[in-house]
Amino acid sequence: MNYQFARRLDAAPESFLDQLFAISRDPKIISFAGGLPMTSLIDVAGIRDAAAAVFAEEGETALQYTTTDGYLPLREFIAERYRSRLGLPATADEIRITNGSQQCLDLIAKLFVDPCTVVGMERPGYLGAIEAFSYYQPRFKTVPVTEEGPDIDAFHTLCQEDNLAFFYGIPNFQNPSGMSYTETRRKECAECCRETNTIFYEDDAFGELAFDGRPRIPVKAFAPECGVMSGSFSKTVSPGMRIGWIYAPAQVIEKFDAVRQAADLHPNALSQAVMYRYLTTHDYEGHLERVRRVYQKNCNQMCDLLDDLLPDVIHTTPEGGMFMLATMPEGKDSMALFHACLKECVAVLPGVPFYAEGGGYDTFRLNFSTANETEIEEGMARLKRAYCLCGKK
Ligand SMILES: Cc1ncc(COP(=O)(O)O)c(C=O)c1O
Repeated sequence: MNYQFARRLDAAPESFLDQLFAISRDPKIISFAGGLPMTSLIDVAGIRDAAAAVFAEEGETALQYTTTDGYLPLREFIAERYRSRLGLPATADEIRITNGSQQCLDLIAKLFVDPCTVVGMERPGYLGAIEAFSYYQPRFKTVPVTEEGPDIDAFHTLCQEDNLAFFYGIPNFQNPSGMSYTETRRKECAECCRETNTIFYEDDAFGELAFDGRPRIPVKAFAPECGVMSGSFSKTVSPGMRIGWIYAPAQVIEKFDAVRQAADLHPNALSQAVMYRYLTTHDYEGHLERVRRVYQKNCNQMCDLLDDLLPDVIHTTPEGGMFMLATMPEGKDSMALFHACLKECVAVLPGVPFYAEGGGYDTFRLNFSTANETEIEEGMARLKRAYCLCGKK
C-alpha cells in the first residue's frame, strides 16, 4: 500500500524521543540521555493507598466519562498553589488539566500556529516542543539563552516579528541546559511581551525542583495577560499518571476547551482523582524535599566528575531540574560521542535536536535524575573512555 501521508509530516524532525526511550530500557546501558525521574522516588505505596481510597469512595465517578476542563478539586489545588507559592492570582477557571504538559504543547500550537507563522524559542530549546510544534509547520526563530536568560536584544527583535505566534521558554532549570532566567530578565521579557502584544508560553515543568526549594517568580507574574503557563506532576509525583495542566487567560481557555474536546474529550478521570487524593492525604512538601535533595546530590556529583574527568568540557551548573548541558572543545562532534558512548554502554544525548535552526554539534545533554550514585560514578568513567576514543569531526 502506498500511503499518502499528510504534508505536515514532512515538517516534523525525525523523532529522537523514541530512540531515547528504547535506550532507557536497555539494562546494560547507563543512560544519562533520557529524562526519567528516579524510579525509587515514585511513592508507589502512597499512590496505591490513594488509588484504593478513590476506588472505595468514588470508583463509579472516577471510571465514568467526565468533563473537558478537568477535576475541579485538582484545579483548585493547582490554583491555590500558584497563589500561595508564586503570588499569582490564579483561579480554577483559568486552569485545565491535560494528559501531561506535553499535550499543552500540541494544543497551544493548534490554537496559534498556522503554516509559516513564526514560533520563537530558546536556543537550545526543548526537543519535545520542537517536535510538537513542527506538525503545525511554523518557521522557528531562536534566541540564544545564557546564564541570565534569553539574549534580550535578540528577544526584542523577535517580538517585533509581525507573524509571531508566541515565544516558548522554560525560565526554570531549562531542558536541555538546566539554566534559569534571572528575575531582571523575567521582567524584561514580560515588559517586551506587553509592549509587542506577544504571548509568552512559559513551560514550568521543573519549577518545583529548585534545589533550594525557593520559588522563582514566573514571567507571567509581570505580564499576566501575555502569559500562558504549563505545569506537570510528571517530575514531582509520577510521569505515568500523565497529569499536566495549562494556566491561561479566559479567552485562551475558551478556545483551548474546544480543541481539547476534539482531541480526546477530557483528561483521565481516574488519574486525576488519584492524584488529588495523593496530594491532599500525603506529605507532598516532604516528598518534594526528598526529590530535590537527591537531584541536588546527583547534580553535584556529576558536575564534580565532569570537572575531574573531562576538564576541557564546559558545562552548566544547574540550581534545579534534571539536566545540564556540556560543550566540547572545537572540533569534537557529539554524534560521534553518542556512538562511542553506546559502545561503552553509556548514553548521552547529542545537543543537535535541541537547536531548531541547526547547530549544537559540539554539545550534549546529561540527565542527573535517573541514575543513582554508583551508576553516575561508573557511567561517567565510561563517558570518559568514550570521549577519549571518539575522534575529531
Ligand atoms: C520542558 C518539558 N516540558 C514538557 C515535558 C512533558 O512532560 P509531561 O508531558 O510528562 O508533563 C517535558 C518532559 O520531559 C519537558 O522536559
